[in-house]
Amino acid sequence: MSASVELKNASVTFGNFYAAKNINVKINGGEFFSFLGPSGCGKTTLLRAISGFQDLSEGEVLIDGVDMSRIGPNKRPTSLIFQNLALFPLMSVADNISFSLEVRGVDKKKRRSRANELIELMALDGQGEKMVHQLSGGQKQRVAIARALAIEPKVLLLDEPLSALDLKLRQRMRTELRAIQKRVNITFIYITHDQSEALTMSDRIAVMNEGEIEQIGLCADVYNKPLTPFVATFVGENNSIDGKLTEVSSNEATISTENGSFKSCLNNSDGKYSIGDEVFLFIRPEALELAKNGNFDNVIDINIDTFEFEGNIKNYFAKLGSNKKIKFSIPNSVDTSDIHSGSNIQIGFNKLNSVILKKGQLAVDT
Ligand SMILES: Nc1ncnc2c1ncn2[C@@H]1O[C@H](COP(=O)(O)OP(=O)(O)OP(=O)(O)O)[C@@H](O)[C@H]1O
Ligand SMILES: [Mg+2]
Repeated sequence: MSASVELKNASVTFGNFYAAKNINVKINGGEFFSFLGPSGCGKTTLLRAISGFQDLSEGEVLIDGVDMSRIGPNKRPTSLIFQNLALFPLMSVADNISFSLEVRGVDKKKRRSRANELIELMALDGQGEKMVHQLSGGQKQRVAIARALAIEPKVLLLDEPLSALDLKLRQRMRTELRAIQKRVNITFIYITHDQSEALTMSDRIAVMNEGEIEQIGLCADVYNKPLTPFVATFVGENNSIDGKLTEVSSNEATISTENGSFKSCLNNSDGKYSIGDEVFLFIRPEALELAKNGNFDNVIDINIDTFEFEGNIKNYFAKLGSNKKIKFSIPNSVDTSDIHSGSNIQIGFNKLNSVILKKGQLAVDT
């Protein structure tokens, strides 16, 4: 059984600081939903508010339409997995999993059978009697999930649970978490600052910045159609070129920059753009191609600076005019034998693979 979770005008303040500000989102029952944002943007605060460990200063949390304001954390149909997992080191795997049932007064036989069910579900067969310190990182992760699922929550809240794992294991656990969510068919609310983690697992994501949601959408839409400069640069890599609008139509515009004029798309046009507006043009590294290999809406003159071989792709960093840089990525299969550091070449892109947005805060590279 899964439940929907709705935050309505929800804010959390500490003194006069808003850790979360006027959050409005409805997460559907059975959805894998992620809050994605940089450190300190208010993700844990929101998760704690949903689970009841943190009171809202304003607004409401509704679970399956029911206002949770008077319902304490252990009465809510939610279960929270902490960032550091917080397993009990002196207990066996099975005892860790059944602990919350014991606290709720469930008898030993039922606890045992639920623990065994979860051990099987989490592919931890044969590990039940082990102590926590005898497990690998991925196994500990699965014990933490099993423990959270023991009380049969309708909503599982996960606070960056993969951050302690090494890259390979993290990647494997992403696939596993997604598969577990499909199997148990409950609502997963996941928070992370890692955009590839959010994009690979989620049905939808909300991108947060400084306590506020900047965009909510399907992963592909957030990546392909960012609505703010922050989202454009926090979710995936993006080149930004600044300039002024010289032509505007309903969903297209021309930007004049130091490096020439370019045609691009407007995502959030709704009448907000006019000629003369200061804007950014965003083009992802993979949207730029060698101009000689096709016909493009836009062509840019660049001077190659450095090169990085990444296996499947080749990354080029080039100078654009006197003080700008641009990055583009070429599939390894494309012949680039004539491109060297210092080469003056042209790269191209199509307007549909780029976006113009009003100037605003960019995500800071960390
Ligand atoms: N109890 C508290 N008292 C005062 N400020 C707090 C408290 N809890 C959180 N904050 C502040 O609220 C902001 C949001 O914190 P939060 O823990 O929600 O961030 P986060 O997005 O989870 O970050 P991270 O990715 O680093 O875990 C931070 O600036 C933090 O310092
Ligand atoms: Mg946090």
